Amino acid sequence: MEMVKAGRVGEVRERGRKVLALLGRKVGVFADGDGFFALELTCKHQGADLSAGRVVGGVVTCPRHGWRYELATGRCLDHASAPLRRHALELRGEEIWISLGPVEGGAPGSNR
Ligand code: FES
Repeated sequence: MEMVKAGRVGEVRERGRKVLALLGRKVGVFADGDGFFALELTCKHQGADLSAGRVVGGVVTCPRHGWRYELATGRCLDHASAPLRRHALELRGEEIWISLGPVEGGAPGSNR
């Protein structure tokens, strides 16, 4: 699995999130508590940008109509839609690395 550097722990923790473009798609790296998670950013409802969503308790909430998604799994808590695509994430010292492409299953994120 090809991994790419996504940022530093301090910058993502300070802002709560970071947006990247990978293979023409927007991917968000979110910090929540001690964990870091990498997910696609397009809401499954009507395509709103989840990078503007509120993150609380391991869940990101869509800013448009409020659908909620688990950061660890990408699962929608409000509708039986397909989950958000997740990217594998590794902490390498102070650096955050994520898989270039999305993954099925695997490690949901990393805690520090
Ligand atoms: S676009 Fe996200 S809940 Fe409607």
